Amino acid sequence: MTDPPSARPSDRLARPLRSFRISVTDRCNLRCSYCMPEEHYTWLPRSDILTFDETARIASCFVRLGVDKLRITGGEPLLRQDLPELIVLLARIHGVRDIALTTNGVLLPRFGAALRDAGVRRVTVSLDTLRADRFVALTGRDQLAATLAGIDRAVELWPGAVKLNAVVMRDRNDDELVDLLRFARARGVELRFIEYMDVGGATAWSGATVVSRREILARLAERFGAPVPCAERDWAPADRFRLPDGTVFGVISSTTEPFCRTCDRARLTADGMWYTCLYAKSGVDLRSAVRCGATDAELDALVARRWRERTDRGAEERHALREARGPLAARDELADDPHLEMHKRGG
Ligand code: GTP
Ligand code: 5AD
Ligand code: SF4
Repeated sequence: MTDPPSARPSDRLARPLRSFRISVTDRCNLRCSYCMPEEHYTWLPRSDILTFDETARIASCFVRLGVDKLRITGGEPLLRQDLPELIVLLARIHGVRDIALTTNGVLLPRFGAALRDAGVRRVTVSLDTLRADRFVALTGRDQLAATLAGIDRAVELWPGAVKLNAVVMRDRNDDELVDLLRFARARGVELRFIEYMDVGGATAWSGATVVSRREILARLAERFGAPVPCAERDWAPADRFRLPDGTVFGVISSTTEPFCRTCDRARLTADGMWYTCLYAKSGVDLRSAVRCGATDAELDALVARRWRERTDRGAEERHALREARGPLAARDELADDPHLEMHKRGG
């Protein structure tokens, strides 16, 4: 490579660096079975958690290298104290076009307005069921009403900029596709059905529990008529479809039809580890770099160099395992290396 370290890098598969997902806490107030099935976890030590200034400094580096979209994730990001203060710092970075948030919604009635005022432009709320008893079974908490109140608040605060994420699992919630779609349509928000993924933390995953994009589309076609793909083709994980009645929804088919070839995403954990793939077994310790006094130029060079070497195709490699595919990591591996957990590196 001949270009200077600060030039916008592309990886070995010609993928640019454009989207940066920042996990601000590994803690969560729910225990979704596909992400945090255990009641107790080893939390990141408080002293390792990046300060807001450290996070903003790292984010600035990624923005200089081409990122223009930031997404705040967790765990549950709204559990991070004073989160709006971080948003203000991120919104000030020259070159940031978009700041989005992925949340379970429970705390949106309390903190939504402050986050919107600070600069959050778009919000995605997770909603896997509309049935209170099932919500408890899927998340370990009796919080359906709070989640729905959070969605209502989001729609008020971010009209036209709210999405819902539903992870579809066989025999757990796959009989609610139609109800979830109707719920979203009635509120004017876009629903995305997500194939259940074998990521770290999804210890109960098996091929039999996945409802594929093909099956999701076939089931919706039976009820509503055939969904037609929307024309756009971009770098977002969701493929969007339109029903005959005009309703638009998305499907994120990471499991059966992975989209690694268009993956422009980098992920930062709350303690400053940088991962170049959701499935990556190791990351780059940017906290140490920052705390050891790296200059901006050194930080840029470190990140640019690593991105140029990037070859990750995690979901495609998992897909290639076919029948041998199982959870990414067993419980004891996760206990030994908690950074493998999805809730550490953001959904
Ligand atoms: P927008 O395109 O900005 O709406 O964001 P998004 O769809 O990336 O955000 P969101 O956090 O809602 O992501 C939705 C889900 O897609 C995640 O929770 C994951 O299940 C999946 N996903 C997101 N990014 C990746 C990725 O890089 N790789 C894979 N395989 N799946 C991803
Ligand atoms: N499969 C699919 N999506 C998952 N998420 C977390 N774990 C999984 C999994 N095993 C995603 C969900 C949720 C977001 C925070 O993370 O989409 O909405
Ligand atoms: Fe990107 Fe890895 Fe997800 Fe593939 S599996 S889309 S490379 S994060």
